Amino acid sequence: MTKICCIGAGYVGGPTMAMIARQCQDVQVTVVDINADRIAAWQTDDLPIYEPGLLEVVKEARGRNLFFSTDVDQGIRDADIVFVSVNTPTKTFGEGAGCASDLQYWELCARRIKEVSTSDKIIVEKSTLPVRTAEAMERVLHAGHNPVHFEVLSNPEFLAEGTAMEDLEAPDRVLIGGHETPSGQKALQTLADIYATWVPRDRILTTNLWSSELSKLTANAFLAQRVSSINAISALCEATEADVGEVARAIGTDSRIGPKFLKASIGFGGSCFKKDILNLVYLCESYGLKEPAEYWRQVVALNEYQETRFVKTMLHSMFNTIANKRIAVFGFAFKADTGDTRESPSIKVCRELASEHARIVVSDPQAIDNARKDLTDIDGSVEFELDPYKAAEGAHAIAILTDWKEYRDLDYQRIFDGMQKPAFLFDGRNMLDHDALYEIGFEVYSIGKGKKSHLN
Ligand code: UDX
Ligand code: ADP
Repeated sequence: MTKICCIGAGYVGGPTMAMIARQCQDVQVTVVDINADRIAAWQTDDLPIYEPGLLEVVKEARGRNLFFSTDVDQGIRDADIVFVSVNTPTKTFGEGAGCASDLQYWELCARRIKEVSTSDKIIVEKSTLPVRTAEAMERVLHAGHNPVHFEVLSNPEFLAEGTAMEDLEAPDRVLIGGHETPSGQKALQTLADIYATWVPRDRILTTNLWSSELSKLTANAFLAQRVSSINAISALCEATEADVGEVARAIGTDSRIGPKFLKASIGFGGSCFKKDILNLVYLCESYGLKEPAEYWRQVVALNEYQETRFVKTMLHSMFNTIANKRIAVFGFAFKADTGDTRESPSIKVCRELASEHARIVVSDPQAIDNARKDLTDIDGSVEFELDPYKAAEGAHAIAILTDWKEYRDLDYQRIFDGMQKPAFLFDGRNMLDHDALYEIGFEVYSIGKGKKSHLN
């Protein structure tokens, strides 16, 4: 039986390994992490991450061929295949700060693998890493005298949070990069065979290491660029009274453009988009490619503009002052169906509201705990309230920041009745029925559509 060890029990490692163990009973999977609380939580029904359908998959495989452990060394030693799925946040210090990936966790891992391994292994890069990291990993693994052979593969993960289990069960593609040597191709086939137990062979793409690493950065950059492009148009729509939803519908029917990732919003968040684009920018710069670097940097700049623009709309429409006004923030997660708040636009929106001395009440069905940690710097200005009705009680405004479907089903008449008047609603996700809200009496603002106001 093939033994797999995954280092890193996070948003990528956890769900991916659960799916491999569920679908491929010929392998034994052990997920290891230095974070003992996380590992303990994976062994209960209160998993450390919220992802629809994840618990069912974990329960099916846990104890059968899926195990969780803090014994990283043992996990590595026993494994034939080691997935490296540790975090690679953007560097906050030194060279490349704010742009390059912080590779310290990843390098520690490589050194650990080298130190404890007593048999040949396939090492799979699962974390999103800068291009040519595999090469650096090989250098660490093979440094000095080492009788053990490591074959490094790149196998980027394309799952999106909130739909991770569907994405893993029926992926558009699985991408595996390896060396074009006999041992590289053999390793590549070993991994491809595991995925082939449930993914059709024609969806398993194989390529060389560098192309695989760069494809992951490029996929995220293209997706984020679409969001920034439609958000740029949303600003123009507001100035011209065009409707961004109509524009997106019209262009999305062009089969060359397609309808996905054209939803104007307060901006994209999540652990990948910004980080990967900045990685791409850093990569371009380090090869002296100034114009491509600037081109991609603009996708992030536009996203920041969109977040700030939203707060400005709130401020200007509420008579240029929100000091001491109660503002109910509906949604803190970076998207619906996750408790993840990494790079969530809500963080910046709340900070900017606090700098205008607003009194903020954050509500979210899954992300309150993370929101508390994200907003410690402004904790004097923020309350947290799970119940959206209570959050909106006595509020001057509601800002919808995450597209949770439960926000569509709320009783807005009841909410309106309990609010200060005029009652403002800022729909940062264009997800509500704005005509109905206007009929109730709300002052309605959205992204890339005309406002609906009773005031003038
Ligand atoms: C993304 C990629 O989709 C995935 O392939 C990769 O593996 C990891 O990064 P994720 O960040 O989980 O996944 O979510 P995604 O659905 O891509 O959304 C990212 C952000 O863009 C969210 O904040 C979302 O609200 C926003 N978004 C997305 C929009 O504002 N408009 C859209 O039309 C689509
Ligand atoms: P992602 O979204 O990429 O999965 P996360 O931050 O959710 O990222 O998960 C990464 C996990 O990797 C964390 O749980 C962290 O504790 C773990 N980790 C980081 N460095 C190491 C290491 N050297 N050994 C084991 N686990 C590690």
